[in-house]
Amino acid sequence: MAATSLPIGRASILPLPHIYDRVSRHIPAIEWPALADDVAAILELKKTRNAVILAHNYQAPEIFHTVSDIVGDSLALAREAINVDADVIVLAGVHFMAETAKLLNPGKTVLIPDMRAGCSLADSITAADVRGLREKYPGVPIVTYVNTSAAVKAESDVCCTSGNAVDVVRSLNAPRVLMIPDEFLAQNVQVLVPEVEILTWAGHCEVHEQFTPADIREVRESYPGVTVIAHPECPPDVVAEADFSGSTAMMMNFVTQKRPRQVVLVTECSMGDNIAQANPDIEFIKPCNLCPHMKRMSLKNIRHALETLTHEVTVEPELAGRARAAVERMLAVRPR
Ligand code: 13P
Ligand code: SF4
Repeated sequence: MAATSLPIGRASILPLPHIYDRVSRHIPAIEWPALADDVAAILELKKTRNAVILAHNYQAPEIFHTVSDIVGDSLALAREAINVDADVIVLAGVHFMAETAKLLNPGKTVLIPDMRAGCSLADSITAADVRGLREKYPGVPIVTYVNTSAAVKAESDVCCTSGNAVDVVRSLNAPRVLMIPDEFLAQNVQVLVPEVEILTWAGHCEVHEQFTPADIREVRESYPGVTVIAHPECPPDVVAEADFSGSTAMMMNFVTQKRPRQVVLVTECSMGDNIAQANPDIEFIKPCNLCPHMKRMSLKNIRHALETLTHEVTVEPELAGRARAAVERMLAVRPR
């Protein structure tokens, strides 16, 4: 969406002009005053509540660039959650991310602005399923993607994210591992770690499973020379067509370091918007797949969360201890 230019003189009367500068490529000036009202209220509420906002890379630019204190991929948000000193953490992302923050910093009040912000991967497996796998494959370590409930993590040996899955699998020094629940992530890791047999579960991300190799070939035909970067939740035949694959943070780093002239980010739509503002020289060709769960976050419900201290995310203590252990084992794995 291109920003509407204002006659000289009018731009200067926009509220919070220094913050508008960060989103001006994506938010028309005419829409800004209504958003700025919520932004100003949230900035004030963060002070009175002693709160911080952790936002995932898929959040819309008006959240990502204006009110967030810490932004990143799932791995970065988990790492940062440990060090939060404030009383309240608002997680602008999805429920499993808020649960992970709570596991790692149990003394804090962790809020999610909309409890319905789930994830198709988290919904694809239950704790009973994991117990069933353990019975069926005794002695095979279970590596569980963080995109799962705390109950599922509690049944697992170690967690992983898309940013460290390869390192986590290698760290186990096992001939066979179960990697659940994202079948495509597991298959993409299998390509990179052929020495380990990786058993999979049939869970999929509803956003990334939609991409096809034909999409990539089409974009390459329309934009000769374009750089294609795909998230590892995409099917393996899509990743095979890409120039690079990595977590959302790795995708962002690739773009800002390699500075391709034209790039397509084969992932959720807001990613491109969030990098584009600071990189006007790079042309982002956007596939428009939105994650309906991530998009449940808005400035309005973040403001409401801080006003009312809702909705609090809690994890039952016995479960929390076991789930935390799986996440902490992941965080202890060092890149090789
Ligand atoms: P990242 O860990 O790469 O940020 O991915 C999280 C996610 O949900 C992607 O769909
Ligand atoms: Fe889950 Fe996919 Fe949405 Fe990420 S993009 S939160 S994996 S549904």
